[in-house]
Amino acid sequence: MCGIVGYVGGRPALDVVVEGLARLEYRGYDSAGVAVLADGKLATAKRAGKLVNLRGALEDEPPPEGTLGMGHTRWATHGAPNDRNAHPHVDCTGSVAVIHNGIIENFAELRAELEENGHRLLSDTDTEAVAHLLEDEVKAGGGLVEAMRRVCRRLEGAFTLVAVHTGDPDLVVGARRNSPLVVGVGEGENFLASDVAAFIAHTRNAIELGQDQIVELRAGGVTVTDFEGRPADVKEYHVDWDVSAAEKGGFDYFMLKEIAEQPQAVADTLLGRIGADGRLHLDEMRIPDRELREVDKIIIVACGTSYHAGLIAKYAIEHWAGLPCEVELASEFRYRDPILSPSTLVIAISQSGETMDALMAVRHAREQKAKLLGICNVNGSTLPRECDGVLYTHAGPEIAVASTKAFLTQLVAVYLIALYIAQVRGTKWGDEVFAMVQLLERMPEKVEKVLETMEPVRELARSLSGEHCVLFLGRHVGFPVALEGALKLKELAYMHAEGFAAGELKHGPIALIEEGLPVVVVVPPRAREVLHDKIVSNIQEIRARGARTIVIAEDGDESVEPYADTLIGVPAVPTLLQPLVTTVPLQVFACELASAKGHDVDQPRNLAKSVTVE
Ligand code: F6R
Repeated sequence: MCGIVGYVGGRPALDVVVEGLARLEYRGYDSAGVAVLADGKLATAKRAGKLVNLRGALEDEPPPEGTLGMGHTRWATHGAPNDRNAHPHVDCTGSVAVIHNGIIENFAELRAELEENGHRLLSDTDTEAVAHLLEDEVKAGGGLVEAMRRVCRRLEGAFTLVAVHTGDPDLVVGARRNSPLVVGVGEGENFLASDVAAFIAHTRNAIELGQDQIVELRAGGVTVTDFEGRPADVKEYHVDWDVSAAEKGGFDYFMLKEIAEQPQAVADTLLGRIGADGRLHLDEMRIPDRELREVDKIIIVACGTSYHAGLIAKYAIEHWAGLPCEVELASEFRYRDPILSPSTLVIAISQSGETMDALMAVRHAREQKAKLLGICNVNGSTLPRECDGVLYTHAGPEIAVASTKAFLTQLVAVYLIALYIAQVRGTKWGDEVFAMVQLLERMPEKVEKVLETMEPVRELARSLSGEHCVLFLGRHVGFPVALEGALKLKELAYMHAEGFAAGELKHGPIALIEEGLPVVVVVPPRAREVLHDKIVSNIQEIRARGARTIVIAEDGDESVEPYADTLIGVPAVPTLLQPLVTTVPLQVFACELASAKGHDVDQPRNLAKSVTVE
């Protein structure tokens, strides 16, 4: 969602800020704007639509050159995505400018109060209220930092705010509650951004900001305090990837690059976690083995694709670790009454570590004293701070909105956790766990094999670009894979796509089958005879009713050949690990189909990469 960039240093701020915004485009947005402070005056420019529109406006009317500035890409919440509602917003005097990510829940009262006091608000946004509140507080004295503190104490909801004031032309102030903001530490220059991608071309040194903290950014230094003005402990870290990881590297889309990176991402996520003796070492989980032995229930919370990883985790945890496992959409979790106790382990899965629904679910679980473990891809994000322990996935930056390599690495992480719990609790250790760990190490090469054989999938996708609906069927872990295939197609190709558990067909969905309807079926390995044979019957049932069957089955599975209009082979792997290979053709399929339809594959309409509001 909204992207934020702030800069103060020695370079032309506009260039740094616009370049930073371009690197945050992947977050999803519908308008963009900048403010530059030069010669004691604020110059702003903002435009609805993509950055190209803003760049055009800046070329038509270049602002004066300054070395302090900020920029924003807005994903509309309050008010339509037009020029007027785009950020930055300024106060009545034109001396304070503000950008914001999040939702200020008490904005209506604040706005009414401001209007009563004579302020003129020009937009429909919650953000503009902050500019006017800052105007009053700056007038009241104490400078912009103190003004920001006083304003933040009045705000309800989630926000990252960045503000500048003509009265202090070397200062950018940031504030954060429940919404992402990181500091980039340079030499003689400093940066603020929603994520490190915005400044990675300039520095790889970053500071993680905590909840309810204010950062005072000057060219010569960074000071972090809390909303009361007390100095805060800051955690500096080094970003372990460079700018090339956030570029397309010769691919047409980030998504294609990220699909291609999956073998490496899987290998990196396994790296250093398997000892020479085949035992797992997950010390970074920071939940002592003694406590893991006491766990009697696991609940997984996540959204979207990460939720699908959670659904697969359930099968792995119940089978290997022998613990009951529930999987819950994070957005639903805290609105019911989940039964949690200190012996419940709640695992939150989130690529970004900033998804508000996931964070709220974690806080709800913490209130009930459950143990909390995060699976997260972004170092420095909020989720790891809120959990007792974290297992990082090492997918590297995922820029395309549709999650691909993060999903595969989440699967690796949940397999590792399930196997580790099995190891600690002594369930199945010595045979199956050991064998699975060995097999996991061979998965990068299996995923690579799948990628080498994707041309027929691309051809198939192109041939289906005129269709309006595609169904996906699976059983066991193939069911969440079917859901994931459908989600990818919905978000990228804007087509009606549904995933079903194949066993549910006869309970309703079979009525949807009509002549020529494409149905993708994920077939379990032949070794799971009962499951396998049941789904082969399902394929026959839908084919008899006219469906065009697209079958994903392990290489050499001749039993499905007679019933498959298109057969996509994947390497043979055990059932629980099969999602690592069966998901890949579905990613390629959705990407190619969307591209054939002329869609923006990396930034599908209406979507944001990290959903930082509820
Ligand atoms: C789909 C997709 C989304 C995310 C979801 C959760 O391709 O990317 O469904 O999976 O928004 O995001 P994270 O994992 O960042 O919490």
